[in-house]
Amino acid sequence: MVQRLRVCFVCLGNICRSPTAEAIFRRMVEDAGLSDRIAIESAGTGAYHVGCPADPRARAHARARGYELNGTAQHFVANDFQRFDVVLAMDAQNLRNLRELEVPDHVQLSLFRHFDPTAPEGASVPDPYHGGDDGFEEVLDQCERASRGLLLALRQRLQESAGA
Ligand code: 4NP
Repeated sequence: MVQRLRVCFVCLGNICRSPTAEAIFRRMVEDAGLSDRIAIESAGTGAYHVGCPADPRARAHARARGYELNGTAQHFVANDFQRFDVVLAMDAQNLRNLRELEVPDHVQLSLFRHFDPTAPEGASVPDPYHGGDDGFEEVLDQCERASRGLLLALRQRLQESAGA
């Protein structure tokens, strides 16, 4: 029986998209009463911002919807796959970067928006770093939609294994 699922959201810098996804999904998991069954982190495939807080624009847009981005950036390295069951890439480039590391059999690796039933196949959460306010709002919208689908999928996985 799966007691606990460990989830990591991964973007490039770990200062915009993946911390946003982490905060949104953590809130949904808390609201569902599943905090002791689903552990959540985020990381970046690039190391440029390691140790930095989330981008001030990402924090401000998230805060306006009631989410606090409190973590600091960490770099996803091959060994990190041992710590997670589900690894969710924000875009195709991050997915390629993760696949270049050795992915253990136990890890479910996919694009995050795969869990949004309204998103086209292969859809990314676009990088908002070099754009304007709209991009940060779009990230929040996309992460909220994908998080709902992800929660359904993980809840089912926990229940199926409980009944097995
Ligand atoms: P993120 O956004 O991958 O969503 O955290 C970016 C942050 C920084 C850079 C690129 C994307 N950068 O090139 O520094």
